[in-house]
Amino acid sequence: EKGGYDSFMLKEIYEQPQAVRDTMGARIDRENKRVILPELKMSDAELATYDRIYIVACGTSMHAGLVGKDIIEKWTRVPVEVAVASEFRYRDPIYTDKTLMIVISQSGETADTLAALREAKKSNVKVLAITNVVGSSVAREADEVIFTWAGPEVAVASTKAYTSQVVALYLFGLYLAQVKGTLAAAEVATIVEHLETIPGKIASMLEDAEQVRRFAESTKGINSLFFIGRGLDYAVSLEGSLKLKEISYIHSEAYPAGELKHGTLALIEDNVPVVALATQPDIYEKTVSNIVEVKARGAHVLGFATEGDYDLAKTVDEVIYMPATLPMLTPILTVIPLQLLAYYASVARGLDVDKPRNLAKSVTVE
Ligand code: F6R
Repeated sequence: EKGGYDSFMLKEIYEQPQAVRDTMGARIDRENKRVILPELKMSDAELATYDRIYIVACGTSMHAGLVGKDIIEKWTRVPVEVAVASEFRYRDPIYTDKTLMIVISQSGETADTLAALREAKKSNVKVLAITNVVGSSVAREADEVIFTWAGPEVAVASTKAYTSQVVALYLFGLYLAQVKGTLAAAEVATIVEHLETIPGKIASMLEDAEQVRRFAESTKGINSLFFIGRGLDYAVSLEGSLKLKEISYIHSEAYPAGELKHGTLALIEDNVPVVALATQPDIYEKTVSNIVEVKARGAHVLGFATEGDYDLAKTVDEVIYMPATLPMLTPILTVIPLQLLAYYASVARGLDVDKPRNLAKSVTVE
C-alpha cells in the first residue's frame, strides 16, 4: 500500500504532481484560459459582493491560508485575515453581510475548525470550505465546498494536502478576480498558463533530492535550525519549520527575515543552520542583506533561489534552485524541498516518519 516507498509520507510527497493536477482538473477552461468553479452554488453576483474574507484553519492548513491571503489580496484587493481556528472560535469577530469565511481542512473533521465554522454560521456568515474529504463534517456543514483532489493522506505530516490547498486557493483567487474584474483577461490567462506547468515543475524537483538529503543528514547533531524569508517566502518558511519540528523533533523557528534583528539574531552563532528563502524578486535585495547578517554571525546557510539567479551563491554556503515561474506561484515549488528536508532529517535520526510522537492525523477533540 506504500507503493514501493518506505513511508506514506514519501509516497505522498511524490504524489504531489498528480494531486495538484487533479485539483486543477476540470476547473481550468483550457480554451479560454480562465478558471471555472461549477461547484459554487452562489451566483457570481453574490460572490462579487464580498469585501472581506476570514480564512480559518489549523496547522498546515492555516499555512496554506497564509499563502492564500497574499494571493487573494493581490489579485482581488479584498482584505483577508488568516486566523488559527482554536483562537478564532473564541473571538468576537467583526462580521458584516459582506464577510465571507473560508475554512481549510484536509480531514474536514478538525474540532476547532468545525467549531469556528459553526460559530460563523450562527452569525449567518457564508462559509466556503476547502477540504479533501467528501462527506466530512466540514464538507457537509459549509455552504459552499471546493474539494482538493489529493486522494487519501495517511502520514500524519501533511504534504500533498497542503500543495492541493494552495492550488485551490489560487483557483478561488483567480475566480474571484474574474468575477470582480480586478485582473484583466490577459493577466488571468498568463497565470493560468503558468499554473498548468506547475505539476511538471514539481515532478522535476522530485527527481533529484540528493542535495536536500545531504543537508538533512548534516543536521543530525544539531538541535536548532532557523528558516527566514519575506512575504510569500515567509509563509512557506512557517510550513517548512512546522514539518521539521513535527517529524524530526529538531527545534526550529521561522522568522520574517527583517524581524531577526529585533531579537532572534542573538541565537545565531557559529554553524547554526539557517534555511534562507529568496525567491521573491521585489524584496530580494532586502532578504539578501538579512542573509549577510546571519552569515556574519557564523550561520551555515542553505539558500533557496530561482533558477537563473546565480548571485545568491556568492552569499550563502549552498543553494537549491527553484524552477522559474511567476513569483506568486513559487510557494508551491519552494515547499517541496522543505518537505524533503524534514523527511530526510527524520530518517537520519531513525524516527518513525509517518507516526511522530504525541500527534494524531485527525484532531477531533479540542
Ligand atoms: C501538520 C498537520 C497538521 C494539520 C492540522 C489541520 O503536518 O498535518 O498541522 O494540518 O491538524 O488538519 P486538517 O487540515 O485536517 O484540518
